[in-house]
Amino acid sequence: MRGAAISWPEIEQERSRLLHDQNDVPPLDLGAGSQSKARTVAEIAQNALKRPRHARALAGLARHMDAVGVLELGTCLGITTAYLGKHAASVTTIEGNPALAKHSEDVWQRLNVQNVTSIVGNFDDVLPSLPPQQYDLVFIDGNHRGSALLQYVNELAPYLTEKGVIVCDDIHWSRDMESAWDELIQENRWSLRVDFYEWGLLTANPSLAREFHCIRF
Ligand SMILES: C[S@@+](CC[C@H](N)C(=O)[O-])C[C@H]1O[C@@H](n2cnc3c(N)ncnc32)[C@H](O)[C@@H]1O
Repeated sequence: MRGAAISWPEIEQERSRLLHDQNDVPPLDLGAGSQSKARTVAEIAQNALKRPRHARALAGLARHMDAVGVLELGTCLGITTAYLGKHAASVTTIEGNPALAKHSEDVWQRLNVQNVTSIVGNFDDVLPSLPPQQYDLVFIDGNHRGSALLQYVNELAPYLTEKGVIVCDDIHWSRDMESAWDELIQENRWSLRVDFYEWGLLTANPSLAREFHCIRF
């Protein structure tokens, strides 16, 4: 089963609407890269969301994998979630800032995206009690601290399907994130590891050779 049939232009129209929304979003300090002072929806839409081609690439990966379950850490305004919802049977997404989670619900409603489960809470609190589900694709896009990245990958690895992948965003965002990524790619549990610069991909898929690649797109 696929997500609701929304076309990419509709999602981009929704992004455009957010880019003109001058309402304030109350801040909440949730980790490196999150907002510490009030910003407008428009500023957040401009600075925090995956660009269209990256959101489409991620959605293409979900489609290629025929993903049944996708997990996103960092919903923000729900734009990348909508792309994922278009190409996977179901998406679970976690956001710590309730005001952003509310905006994202509005976005999905306007786009008629009905296959998303939204969880509001800090990743640190939510992950230890995640329902026992398996995910084909996990997208970590929030709290850009190296120690947090290592912790989340460690906690989420058992939730991956055999061929499942974890995509870690912003691995070159800071020296701290680069160190964490360097540590992850040394781990024996991963077979294929790919540095796409924008993000890093890890999989323990046993049918793939243990290889490391750098690909720029
Ligand atoms: C870069 S944005 C996500 C963008 C979104 N994936 C997209 O491309 O449309 C990161 C989000 O993660 C949330 N976040 C950061 N640290 C968090 C934490 N520890 N727990 C919950 N949410 C967190 C922030 O509030 C922010 O909305």
